[in-house]
Amino acid sequence: MQILFLGAPGAGKGTQCARLAKHLNLVHLSSGDLLRQAVKAGTPTGVAAKSYMDKGQLVPDEVLIAMFRDKLTQPECDRGFILDGFPRTVVQAEALDQLLEELNKNLTIVVNVQVDQKLLLERITGRRTCTNKDCGATYHVKFVPPKKENVCDQCGQNLTQRSDDNEEVVAQRLAVYDKQTAPLINYYDKSLVLRTIDGDGEVEEIFADILKTIKVLA
Ligand code: AP5
Repeated sequence: MQILFLGAPGAGKGTQCARLAKHLNLVHLSSGDLLRQAVKAGTPTGVAAKSYMDKGQLVPDEVLIAMFRDKLTQPECDRGFILDGFPRTVVQAEALDQLLEELNKNLTIVVNVQVDQKLLLERITGRRTCTNKDCGATYHVKFVPPKKENVCDQCGQNLTQRSDDNEEVVAQRLAVYDKQTAPLINYYDKSLVLRTIDGDGEVEEIFADILKTIKVLA
C-alpha cells in the first residue's frame, strides 16, 4: 500500500502517520523529520536546507526529489510506505508520479487532513517532541500532554520544542502552505484517490476515520 498524507502545518499528519505506520507495519517517511536529521548530522543536504527551514520557506524541490528518490528505491519500501510532507509542490508531485511509474507503483490513497486555520497555530506552538531520535514521539502541552511534564512517556527522554514552531515562522509556514501546497488537493482530486478527513477531534477518533477510509479504497 502506498499512502500519501496532505494537510497544513499542525494538521496532525505526523501524529496520524506514526500510528498508521505501526498499525499497517509500513515505512513512515516524513520529509520534515528527514530534513531535521540531515541538519543535525551536518550533511550537505542539511546545510542547504537549514536556512529555508528556519525562515519557514520550502527547501528547493531538487533537494527533496533527490532525497525521496533515494528513500523510495530502498528495499524497505518494497511492500509500501506512508509519505508525510512530500510532495509539497506541483513540481514535487510530478516528480513523484514519474518515480512511481518507474517503480511500477501507484498511490493507493491520498488522505487530506483538514483542520480550521485558527486551531493550527495553537497546535503548533504547543507541540513538544521527544529528543531521542529513535523515538521522536510527539506531544502537546494542552491536547496530548505527557504523564510527567517534559518527559517522554515512551522512552523517558526529555522533550523539546522545534525551533520553527514559534508564531512568526508558523505564520510564514501557513502562508507557504496556502500558496504552494494547497494546490495539490486539486492535483490529486483529479486522480480520484483523494479523501478528505476532518482533523478536528480526538486523535483516536481521527485515526479510526482514517482506517475506515483506507479499508474502503484498499
Ligand atoms: P514539517 O516537519 O513537515 O512540518 P509541517 O508540514 O509544517 O508539519 P508539522 O510537523 O508542523 O505538522 P503535522 O501535521 O505533522 O502535525 P503534528 O502531528 O505534529 O516541515 C518543516 C519544514 O521542512 C518546512 O517548513 C520546510 O522548510 C521543510 N520541508 C518539509 N518538507 C518539505 C518539502 N516536501 N519541500 C520543501 N521543504 C520541505 O501535530 C501538531 C501538534 O498538534 C502536536 O503537538 C500534536 O500532539 C497535536 N495534535 C495532533 N493531532 C491532534 C488532535 N487531533 N487534537 C489535538 N492535538 C493534536
